Amino acid sequence: MDATATENLDIPADIAATLVDPVAYADHRIHGSYRWLRANNPLGVARPQGFDPFWVVTKHAHIQAISRQNELFHNADRPTTLTNQAVEARVRKITGGPNLVRSLVQMDAPDHPKYRALTQGWFMPANLGKFEGRVREIARATVERMLDRGGACDFVEDVALGYPLHVIMEILGVPEADEPRMLKLTQELFGPQDPDVARSREALSAEAFSMMMQAVVADFSAYFRGITEDRRQHPRDDLATVIANAKIGGDYMPEHDATSYYMIVATAGHDTTSSSTAGAIWALAEDPAEFAKVKANPELIPGLVDEAIRWMTPVKHFMRTATADTELGGRSIAKGDWLMLCYASGNRDEEVFEEPDRFRSDRKPNRHVAFGYGAHLCLGQYLAKLEMRILFEELLPRLKSLALDGEVKMTQAYFVNGPKKLPIRFEVN
Ligand code: HEM
Repeated sequence: MDATATENLDIPADIAATLVDPVAYADHRIHGSYRWLRANNPLGVARPQGFDPFWVVTKHAHIQAISRQNELFHNADRPTTLTNQAVEARVRKITGGPNLVRSLVQMDAPDHPKYRALTQGWFMPANLGKFEGRVREIARATVERMLDRGGACDFVEDVALGYPLHVIMEILGVPEADEPRMLKLTQELFGPQDPDVARSREALSAEAFSMMMQAVVADFSAYFRGITEDRRQHPRDDLATVIANAKIGGDYMPEHDATSYYMIVATAGHDTTSSSTAGAIWALAEDPAEFAKVKANPELIPGLVDEAIRWMTPVKHFMRTATADTELGGRSIAKGDWLMLCYASGNRDEEVFEEPDRFRSDRKPNRHVAFGYGAHLCLGQYLAKLEMRILFEELLPRLKSLALDGEVKMTQAYFVNGPKKLPIRFEVN
């Protein structure tokens, strides 16, 4: 990035600082920054201290344009999520590359389409339909537990956290007894920056960080090595069987790639789905008319699900790296430049969404980019929507009223964030 050429494209330092401040994502200041950027500098350069400079992409159309050009904008040439220079240096020391694992997200063509094809069909609605009955049983049990709380609960703690984790573990084929271990590993690996959830990775010494990361990856590897051996000998109807037996060019996947595959599936689908599920209940608890509307019109539930995913947009960004000099939105982007795709900004882009800050279950069309776009479009989108739809189909008919019962608190993180506390009061029909 040529500093002189981009001088007047620089984002003011106070706005740039919010982009890398986990707290700004918890107290919603980030939405003020996005709004300012969309209006004043929709494709500008941020130079926050401790980070390499990066382009900040805040318009819906630019996010889509970059995401659809997978040859021109790679995922894996630099870190795929915003990473400061110190952490990147530590990761490079451990792996020799910019990323800790090599899952679908950290692949580009020609490997990416080959690896994605292994499970793509499995994640399509036609196949997922087989699991709908079991997901409904899990949803029913979850709803019963919530209703037993006697009129008040923390929806995050009591419903939203456990439900998607349980579904994905069951679908993957991890026994229930091992779920706490999976949750712990996930939190250590993708270390939310929230001090209530996990120790801040930035606060660790280089040695402590590298030891922790190596231990986490080794633990995941060891765990799934056992699962792989089992599923090769005793195939079942689960996703682990598909991954364990998948072949690339006639051979089983190398172990590091298989571990990464298990890891992305085990980890990508719970915080994201939890946050979106909690987002829907938050919005309905704040707006009795919206709650009444959806209750009276259950056919709005799929719209409620999509609107919750747009409104919450739990995955705040992914990064891309330009593979050649190019032009976009009147800006010259140079080969090697790093770009932050701000999905949560694209999803409130005034040019695409009417009243973007308002939650409207009947929003149509709802072309949000919360699942990304292009070749890397979320593999689990149909699963996430199925889980949420079934939970609301089971829960909403049982509730007579719903209201907030205290302050909603959000996790502090600039990659994936959402409610961490959602106190609600409810009456049962
Ligand atoms: C990729 C969001 C649920 C598995 C992604 C991406 C986003 C995203 C933004 C990157 C897309 C891009 O780069 O264009 C979400 C949201 C979810 C959710 C908001 C819930 C509401 C799930 C679930 C799973 C899952 C339930 C499955 C277990 C994946 C995988 C990828 C991915 C494997 C990588 C795809 C690739 O790189 O080809 N997701 N996700 N996600 N997601 Fe999700």
